[in-house]
Amino acid sequence: MYIGGEVVSKYIIHGGNKLEGEVQVSGAKNSVLPILAATVISGETSRISNIPRLRDVEVMTEILTSIGAKISKDSHGLVIDSKPINSIHLPEELVREMRSSIILMGALLARFGETIVTYPGGCEIGPRPIDLHLKSLRQMGAIIEESHGFLHCKTSGLKGCDIQLDYPSVGATENIMLAAATAKGTTIIRNAAREPEIIDLQNYLNKSGARIQGAGNSIMTIEGVSSLKASDHRIIPDRIVTGTYMVAAAMTNGEIIIKDIIAENLQSIIAKLRETGSMITIDGNSMKVKAQNNISPIEMLQTLPFPGFPTDMQAQFMSLLSVAEGTSIINETVFENRFKHAEELVRMGAKIKTFGKVAVIKGTKELTGATVFAKDLRGGAALVLGGLVANGTTKVENIYHIQRGYENFDRILRSLGASISCV
Ligand code: UD1
Repeated sequence: MYIGGEVVSKYIIHGGNKLEGEVQVSGAKNSVLPILAATVISGETSRISNIPRLRDVEVMTEILTSIGAKISKDSHGLVIDSKPINSIHLPEELVREMRSSIILMGALLARFGETIVTYPGGCEIGPRPIDLHLKSLRQMGAIIEESHGFLHCKTSGLKGCDIQLDYPSVGATENIMLAAATAKGTTIIRNAAREPEIIDLQNYLNKSGARIQGAGNSIMTIEGVSSLKASDHRIIPDRIVTGTYMVAAAMTNGEIIIKDIIAENLQSIIAKLRETGSMITIDGNSMKVKAQNNISPIEMLQTLPFPGFPTDMQAQFMSLLSVAEGTSIINETVFENRFKHAEELVRMGAKIKTFGKVAVIKGTKELTGATVFAKDLRGGAALVLGGLVANGTTKVENIYHIQRGYENFDRILRSLGASISCV
């Protein structure tokens, strides 16, 4: 089917197969996007490896190319020469396609002292304001005018300062890090986001000559340096993709080995999956997930900023809990309106009721195949997981949402024994 000139594909899944075998996890989408943005600052060449092949990454490279960067592939990943960048105007259509392009604000302000960005459009998981980004950049000396849907940001020089974030926003923390890396003086971020992807960004920036300390903690210090230099960096493995395959094994009564993991980044997911009965063993950077026959419910699953349970794993766990032996409660505290997958799971026979940010899931013995619609990235992945255990055939429509975050999703699931095809 074609919509607006684009091919729209779907997954067709015949449920009931156990997943068994080995899977290698790709690089983290949420790490590679800010790091690609960060390559703008130096005006030098960065070599970034372990880059996942995803639509969001493509959009980011298209944006960078459109403003003048020269990007090529080598055997390990991408080589980004940001020296030729000669535009501060980010292309509207691409910025609308991917909200995380807002991260380029901090990077372009640092490099050129000016940028024009479209206000990022509506989003599928509820309102996602950028007030904390703007407030922090203004505090650092940016003048930001908002008019006709555009943000025009200008500065005669960014200055380090003491920023108290009202909420540990991942994107705002990253934007401040980028703006502060070459600002005059020292910036302190209090109540900073502590996600592993923040640590990865710190590592890339420090390899490029930045002086940043404290990533992974609530207080970060960024001592501004005069310029950044060329560097090489390998992106950390994707903890959400890992978590999704963990749930796939648990739901299908399977047993899989996942390679290239960082166990420390997965502790909240491991703990909750163990609560449902799965056996998880870690051996260095590899993990075995072995399901038990029965899935136990979870009394309370609450999403929180890292190191709490990630909101990006909430939908997949809702799928899992919909076939548990008992009733579970999910409290989504990070985003409003992030339960769109619930009504689709209900079409498959799940017994889920939502009340604002709370969902009550009464486990049922069996899901049934149906035609369902992916409405966002992780919610879409949750529907695929439901399809893997549903009786009969499940069609998941609008899978472009899923392909934004999962490289070769159907191929990898097939290699583990699932019956899934993309048409
Ligand atoms: C990042 C991740 C996303 C993940 C989210 C939370 C990327 C590319 N995306 O998104 O996958 O789900 O972290 O772990 O890394 N907020 C404000 N004002 C702001 C900024 C955020 O109110 O200026 C609110 C948001 O509406 C939301 C909460 O803060 O309720 C968390 O958002 P944030 O941590 O900023 O998420 P993102 O960086 O957008």
